[in-house]
Amino acid sequence: MHTHHSRKASDLIVPIPKSIEDWEGTFRLHPRIAIAAEKGFEAVHQLALELFGCKAGGEDILFKYQAGMEQEAYILTISKVQIVIKAGTDEGAFRGLSTIRKLALLTDNQLPCCKVEDSPTFAWRGYMVDCSRHQFSIAFLKKLIDVASLFHLNRFHWHLTDDQGWRIPLDGWPKLESIASKRTELQYTDGRTYGRLYSKEEILDLQAYAHARHVLVVPEIETPGHASALLAAYPEFGCTGGPYETQDRWGIFEEVMCAGSDELIGFLGDAITQIAELFSSPYIHIGGDECPHAAWQQCPRCQERMRQLGLTDARYLQSWMTSKVCEMVHNAGKQPIGWDEVLEGTEQLGLPKDLIVMSWRGVQGGLEATRRGHQVIMCPNTAGCYFDYKHLDSEEEMGTLGVSTLNQVAHFSCVPDSLQAQAKAYVLGSQGNLWTEKVTTSRQAEYLMFPRLMMLAQQLWKPEDAGKVLQSKSTLTQLCDALDLACYRGE
Ligand code: ACM
Ligand code: ZN
Repeated sequence: MHTHHSRKASDLIVPIPKSIEDWEGTFRLHPRIAIAAEKGFEAVHQLALELFGCKAGGEDILFKYQAGMEQEAYILTISKVQIVIKAGTDEGAFRGLSTIRKLALLTDNQLPCCKVEDSPTFAWRGYMVDCSRHQFSIAFLKKLIDVASLFHLNRFHWHLTDDQGWRIPLDGWPKLESIASKRTELQYTDGRTYGRLYSKEEILDLQAYAHARHVLVVPEIETPGHASALLAAYPEFGCTGGPYETQDRWGIFEEVMCAGSDELIGFLGDAITQIAELFSSPYIHIGGDECPHAAWQQCPRCQERMRQLGLTDARYLQSWMTSKVCEMVHNAGKQPIGWDEVLEGTEQLGLPKDLIVMSWRGVQGGLEATRRGHQVIMCPNTAGCYFDYKHLDSEEEMGTLGVSTLNQVAHFSCVPDSLQAQAKAYVLGSQGNLWTEKVTTSRQAEYLMFPRLMMLAQQLWKPEDAGKVLQSKSTLTQLCDALDLACYRGE
């Protein structure tokens, strides 16, 4: 008899549900039970059959339609003889399925009986993985999506272009594959290169996998900075014409997209049209962070663009670029997202109203964006949302640039107290960001993401209970073990 069999559901489920009652007894999940679903739940039914290795027919587990429920809400009852998941949508039913899966993982399939009524606090519950600096396999990205969906996360922000590599396949631009996707590894002397494009098949396959788990895959194309890889392939898109190289070092590079180049603008229009077709996400992230303007100040084409537009400062030229790229995103039928630098240099031209601002350099950008009427995603590197930072302030720990402790994540609030009630409605949610300059393997990525991402999931689902999760941290590490995830185990 394992002691954990007697643990209560209310001690095991993370994110802790909005409401939970513990009941007497357990329900044993095994391959001979049958799962049924009412009309409208075909997708979640199929997934449940696959995940539990069960057959259809009987009603040991039943997905039941209930009118009037919110999009992601579910009511789960586990009695000794039956599990019932009530929801109004496939998505709500899927959240209920995830709760069952977590209980099964922690109890050797002896689910403690309970009643759960649950729904999220925030709509945007995400994580970002940088696949430019280091490229992760589709198999690993699927593993992350599956795990994220177990914790009710619903956004995978896929960082696909940067100085060190371009990963999006685009018809008509062959040098993206031959040059922009490859970097020479300078720490070796044998000229070896690293990286490739993801194929369209891989991208579509990953999205299908994610969408079955109600995770939206949101692509990012960096503009106008962090573009060395693109410029190496197409030097005419830069201010000096190059030569440029796909970077093996990391940092902020002065070589950026030439805002005066009509060829560059033409390329971006085509790229965004193709990205909009390849990705079903209603959002496209357009980057916008860390773009130095020194090259623009020296560039006759950029200077000419500024003269034509009557712009008196190179900072304003970036906001022109932002507006131009947003227009392309709109033309492709999508909504743009940008890092918080998009708010700068906007005195002359302003910003498109529907641009969602991702606040990363603290929460100030996010606060200002809400004042200006923009929707916001809060992922401040100052408050636990940067998972490339160390877990602990020690030279022995992996990670770079800063420290984000689990405790910090447990105390993070994506709606600061100072925010007016009216402005709070502009905050969509948050995400954890994993930059991968020094993350070369999937095991390292896991170690940095977990258990911080699970705590962030709690923050976005029911923030009031984050402290409680911190106190029962061992549940998080048990889940990581059950899911074969490397994780940090310290304080
Ligand atoms: C960022 O971390 N440069 C968005
Ligand atoms: Zn230029």
